[in-house]
Amino acid sequence: MLDVEAIRKDFPILDQIVNDEPLVYLDNAATTQKPLAVLETINRYYKQDNANVHRGVHTLAERATASYEATRETIRKFINADSTKEILFTRGTTTSLNWVARFAEEVLTEGDQVLISIMEHHSNIIPWQEACRKTGAELVYVYLKDGALDMEDLRAKLTGKVKFVSLAHASNVLGVVNPIKEITQMAHKVGAIMVVDGAQSTPHMKIDVQNLDVDFFAFSGHKMAGPTGIGVLYGKEKYLNQMSPVEFGGEMIDFVYEQSASWKELPWKFEAGTPNMAGAIGLAAAVDYLEKIGMDAIEAHEQELIAYVYPKLQAIEGLTIYGSQDLAQRSGVIAFNLGDLHPHDLATALDYEGVAVRAGHHCAQPLLQYLDVPATARASFYIYNTKADCDKLVDALQKTKEFFNGTF
Ligand SMILES: Cc1ncc(COP(=O)(O)O)c(C=O)c1O
Repeated sequence: MLDVEAIRKDFPILDQIVNDEPLVYLDNAATTQKPLAVLETINRYYKQDNANVHRGVHTLAERATASYEATRETIRKFINADSTKEILFTRGTTTSLNWVARFAEEVLTEGDQVLISIMEHHSNIIPWQEACRKTGAELVYVYLKDGALDMEDLRAKLTGKVKFVSLAHASNVLGVVNPIKEITQMAHKVGAIMVVDGAQSTPHMKIDVQNLDVDFFAFSGHKMAGPTGIGVLYGKEKYLNQMSPVEFGGEMIDFVYEQSASWKELPWKFEAGTPNMAGAIGLAAAVDYLEKIGMDAIEAHEQELIAYVYPKLQAIEGLTIYGSQDLAQRSGVIAFNLGDLHPHDLATALDYEGVAVRAGHHCAQPLLQYLDVPATARASFYIYNTKADCDKLVDALQKTKEFFNGTF
């Protein structure tokens, strides 16, 4: 059990009044709030240690470099990678997936296939569309059954033609968690490389990349109590060795001649230019913070909130909830619509009650086209949310319904 009241004290932003109501922040799938430990670490870095990394021999440069590289070890442990060579710092999940798709361009040829699912975020669709367009490979989609990934469809489409499988670990709309370990075994049997978008899973559950045996795994710092502008691409060393750098310039080179250059070894060959030092160090503080709470405890807390709120939401007449009804398959994301009220109007009405939810297509337009809805509202939970927050959401939905004369 989490001591949520103690946790909430670590997030001063939560303690505020919005539209005359105490803030209930339920937009965590978009970005989470940051604890004091992260804010103070970044502040301290700029106040005491700031210098460019890997370049200077002076004391500040050595301190900054040591902290930056220590973050790599913190991340390695956090996701149980084999080596820090396999931990690349990026801007976030989007950049990480773009890098993998760029690698795919070196591997794919006409007749090959890339297998993704209809529940993917645009970040795990468009880079593959581009890779396929440039190489003549085909982008193939797995569809849904009962609001979750259709495993039969996946099995049928996972043939020897598939060279990459790239799937969300947890959907940012349906809230379902995909069986990545099982799918990775299936992908490897046909010789495909397994790529996972961990943007919505890493903040909420223990990740063990060696146990999952995935080949690439991407996530963002800002969705897990860390700062914006920093993320991670994990890749198995054997693939990172084959992969060309995506960006070229300072920091990533070994020697530069007039007409050619050679690269540093892993992981630095991928990190061109001055990196986001404060971001990385802030991310390490976020990981320390989450690990102190415990990833299993975080997952259990969110499961408890979902088990509490889901039946209450289901009981609201006119409310349509998307995704699987099997709560064992779900993470802390619930997308819904109230009658034919536009989700933007719904989100605005909830905001009047102090409840912050997301409305729109959630960067998953193919999924919404498949579900045949233009947009949805979405509530998403994190470590600092309480059952009282759930009650407030339900209450605000009821009020909204009454305001619109309960005509749904
Ligand atoms: C499932 C999923 N993948 C990828 C992303 C992209 O993350 P970022 O914008 O941090 O690169 C998001 C962000 O909403 C997401 O939810």
